[in-house]
Parts: sequence; C-alpha cells; structure tokens
Amino acid sequence: MYQAPRGTQDILPEDAHLWAFVEGVARRQAALAGFGEIRTPTFEATAVFQRGVGATTDIVEKEMYTFLDKGGESITLRPEGTAAVMRAYFEHGMGSRPQPVKLFSLLNTFRYDRPQKGRLREFHQLDVESIGEADPAADAEVVGVHWRYYAALGLRGLRLVVNSIGDALCRPSYVEALRAYFEAHRTELCEDCNRRLATNPLRLLDDKTPACQTILDHAPASIDHLCEPCGDHFAAWTGYLAAAEIPFSVEHRLVRGLDYYSRSVWEVLPANGGAQSTLGGGGRYDGLAEQLGGRSTPGVGFATGIERILLALKEQRVEVPAAPGPRAFVVHGPGIARVQAFQLAEHLRASGIATDLALGDRKLGKQMASADRSGADVALIIGEDEAAAGEVSVKNLRGEDGGEQQRRVPRADVVAFVAEARP
Ligand code: HAM
Repeated sequence: MYQAPRGTQDILPEDAHLWAFVEGVARRQAALAGFGEIRTPTFEATAVFQRGVGATTDIVEKEMYTFLDKGGESITLRPEGTAAVMRAYFEHGMGSRPQPVKLFSLLNTFRYDRPQKGRLREFHQLDVESIGEADPAADAEVVGVHWRYYAALGLRGLRLVVNSIGDALCRPSYVEALRAYFEAHRTELCEDCNRRLATNPLRLLDDKTPACQTILDHAPASIDHLCEPCGDHFAAWTGYLAAAEIPFSVEHRLVRGLDYYSRSVWEVLPANGGAQSTLGGGGRYDGLAEQLGGRSTPGVGFATGIERILLALKEQRVEVPAAPGPRAFVVHGPGIARVQAFQLAEHLRASGIATDLALGDRKLGKQMASADRSGADVALIIGEDEAAAGEVSVKNLRGEDGGEQQRRVPRADVVAFVAEARP
C-alpha cells in the first residue's frame, strides 16, 4: 500500500483536539494583542522566497520545494510565512492603512530537510507579523505575544534568548571583524565553516560541530559592534521586555537562519533540548520590503512550529482539554425500529445535539458496548417494544443520577428531554 511521503504525517481524529487546542489558544492570544488573521497561498513565485529569505540560506540553497508549473513558471511551496505576508502587504496597499498592520496566520510550510523528531518536510507554524512600525515597542509587543502563547498553552521552563545583529550600516564592519577572527582560526574550523566563511560569516555562529564550539563561543559579539541607533534600539527593546517581566538572556551566537533580519532577533528554547527542539524564533526585518521591490517598510515578527509545541506538551505532560464525546448514542432493533432510530438521530443533530448511531446489523449488546465506548452521556434505545409504543428508552451512561438509570420517554419528547436532562 501507499504511504504518506517521508517527512509528512497524517493527523488522526484522536489527535485533532490537540491541534484545535493549540490553534484556538493561538487565535485567542493573537486577538488579545490586536492581530488580525491573514491567509496567503500555499505556493508563491519562487522569487518571493529567493529574494526574501536570501539566496545563501540553507532554506533557499537546499530545502525549497521548487518546480516549474505547466505554464513554465517557477513556483515554490512556501518554506515560511514572512516573505509571503510582506508580498501581500504591498499587493493590497496595506501601507495606506494605520501602521503597524498586525497580522497572524496558521499555515502549513514545506522544507526538504532530513526528517527526524521535531523536523518534518511539511510542518505547521503560527506566524505573527507587525509591519510598518520601527518603534522597539513593536518588537517587544510581538515577543509578548510569543512568550504569552506558550504560557497560555501550559508550557513551563522555557528560555527566551535575544540578540541584535545590527543593520545595513553597522553590520558590515561587524561581519569584517568576524571574518578576521575566523580567518585567524581557519585551520581549526570544520569544512562547513570554511565554506560559509566565504559566503556568509554570520552563519558560522550557528554551527553545531563540537570541535568548532570554543572558537565560536569566543567570536566577537555583534552587540559590541552596533551603531548608536541600533544600540539604542536594542536597549529600548530589552527595556520593554524587562518592564513586562518577560525573562530573557542575551545570546551572542544567536543570528537566525534567514537573511532578512536586522537588529532584534530571538528564539525560545525548551530548558534542555537540541537544535531541532527550538520552539520558535523571530526578529526584525526592516530590509525585507525593499528586497521584494517595495518601499522601505519596517517589520518584526516570529513563527513557532506547531508540531514542536505538540511534542513539548507531551513531554511536559500538559493536560489538554479532551474532545467532547457525543451527547447521545442511538441503539436500535431491526426493521421499523431501525428507521425510527435513524430519524431520531437526524432529528437530534438538526436540533444541535451531538449524536452518534449504530450502523450495520450488530446485536443490541454490541451496540450498547459501542455506546459506552463513544463517551456519550445517554444511550437512546429503540427496540421492537419501544418502536411499537412510539417511545424511546433513555439510559444514563454516566451513572450517579440518583438511581434512575433508564426510563421510557415518548418519542416526541426525546429531543427536549435529552437537551434538558444534563447528567
Ligand atoms: P524559522 O526559525 O525558520 O523562522 O522557523 C520557525 C519555527 O518553525 C522553528 O522555530 C520551528 O519551531 C519550526 N520549524 C522550522 N523548520 C521545521 C521543520 N523542518 N519541522 C518542524 N518544525 C520546523 C521562520 O520561519 C520565520 N519566518 C519566522 C519569522 C516570522 N521571522 C519574522 N517573522
């Protein structure tokens, strides 16, 4: 038989309540801070990500699902949300709305990566973006949404790490300082680091090869090379975080894997997890709009992986509200009883009462076992007797209702009876 493609997964009904919970809390937290929902297409013109995310990033170099469509146009399944949201911001003239334009989306994203725990080829993100405002309070507002989201889900023991990678004015001199430092240690660095040294020295700081770690730890720190406006921005941003009592630590090696960032960058990590357990990350991207051919427009945002959140909820044994079972389960005898049972189930559903029904030719006992397993509050039984009398036996499946476990109710009264008699 066929299997789902490597790095993808089916979400089955027994897990659907987890997704509904995580998405529901996301919508609530976004709304609490005034972010409105945007949905963009699953694929974009390849250039949106090539130009937006950056040609020398791992995402663009190795991980994009890119193909020519039947019209010969290069199309890419979105590897992330930010560049597409910025594309939509311009396409719909959102620059003339009150700024910032605050948007969130729940989206599927695609990266051709080596699948492992917490790393998939199709995964899902909550993406939150605040476009059009350079004020460091915007950075802090977005971090606030990010941090509160995990707290509202019930996750504990997370770490927020922050850094500033400067802007187009001061970063070049920092990158030169980095390059000089790494050149001096060239022979001690791994092959990958040597290759990146030529293209993007910042990315070395991300390298995980054990032998490189001491050298990378002692590399020059970007916050020591910021120009005055970038230094002020960083101080103000972290000041707002402190004022909001959001705990953070500065991580000099945090640079993020996408090229559009400037100034603020941050990530949220579980207390003790590897690289593929980073729950979410974000930053400011004041140069992205121009990369996409738009007017210079500041922006800041983050994304967090839904599958990684689900893993963390499981690891931390967070109790997630269970999916409600049906209110009623209809059990029936053969012949006319069966038709009446079907009619009753449909009537209950039309009245807004969640109802399940035994299908097929199972014996009453088997049907009652299904009713028990379904989690329904009441079984509604139409045997031959009940069918002839125009009645339904209502059996409380939850016990403890004062001793009355089963009673007969006229068929015409069942909907009202089930609606009122909460166990
Ligand atoms: P990112 O760090 O590439 O940032 O991804 C954000 C989150 O998506 C990660 O922290 C992780 O939870 C999840 N994630 C990434 N790759 C995978 C994967 N292969 N499998 C499972 N989960 C994964 C961005 O995407 C930026 N667009 C964030 C942003 C928004 N920056 C500004 N605005």
